[in-house]
Amino acid sequence: MSRKICIANWKMNPASSKEAEILFKNTAKAASGLKKTEIVICPPVLYLEKIKKLSGRSAKKIYIGAQDAFWKEEGAFTGQVSALQLREAGAKYVILGHSERRDHSSGGGDTNETVNKKLKASLAIGFSPVLCFGEPSRDEEHQYLNFIRKEIEECLSGIPKEALSKIIVAYEPIWAIGKGATAATAEECREMVIFARKVLSDKFGLSSAERVKIIYGGSVDERNVAEFLNNGEVDGFLVGRASLDAGKFSNIVNACEASEN
Ligand code: PGA
Repeated sequence: MSRKICIANWKMNPASSKEAEILFKNTAKAASGLKKTEIVICPPVLYLEKIKKLSGRSAKKIYIGAQDAFWKEEGAFTGQVSALQLREAGAKYVILGHSERRDHSSGGGDTNETVNKKLKASLAIGFSPVLCFGEPSRDEEHQYLNFIRKEIEECLSGIPKEALSKIIVAYEPIWAIGKGATAATAEECREMVIFARKVLSDKFGLSSAERVKIIYGGSVDERNVAEFLNNGEVDGFLVGRASLDAGKFSNIVNACEASEN
């Protein structure tokens, strides 16, 4: 039985700081009494300090994360926020390589190379990075597995074996993310978790690969969470839309807490 982690990716929500405060307070209630499940909230960067303060006041342990981090510490980089600045604001985790940060249409532009730089900078300042990987689509010839292998290998290029235990790896099939999408099946998830562990094992050795937490993200909700926990081979979840509803997110967290796997 592994400790589970539930990461809320609020993305560019909610619209106001007041709403963020309410959402956080309601979400924090879900954390009461948790023994083996960790919660990480990743709000928009603008609300980070405020949410961090609120989390300090709540008796329950909730960690704060950022949705991205630039690799340089400071300088002429308009619009960027450094990992160091995010740590200063209270973040301990950082999501890296999310498909929306790679996609130009959502203001992204990340490549495996830039994700690798962000990962190194984040590790250097003591963050726990959440490294996203996932294929845009699937094909019958299983070419998508080559895509995944390349993505994982390039993002982790030059990362020392000892650092691997600090990284959480998130399988996020791009086709399963967002409004109108359907989650992967637990079976599809399980196969990919096994494949990702094999890629990690080839690069870092079996014992390091076995210890890495691998989580799933993409249309996770209170209805499919149990199936993923039972048959998806996952150590937790990266939750988008359902994390904007404290009740739904609580149900996901409670399912993790109750899981025997
Ligand atoms: P979703 O987002 O839960 O809204 O599909 C998941 C993600 O982007 O991590």
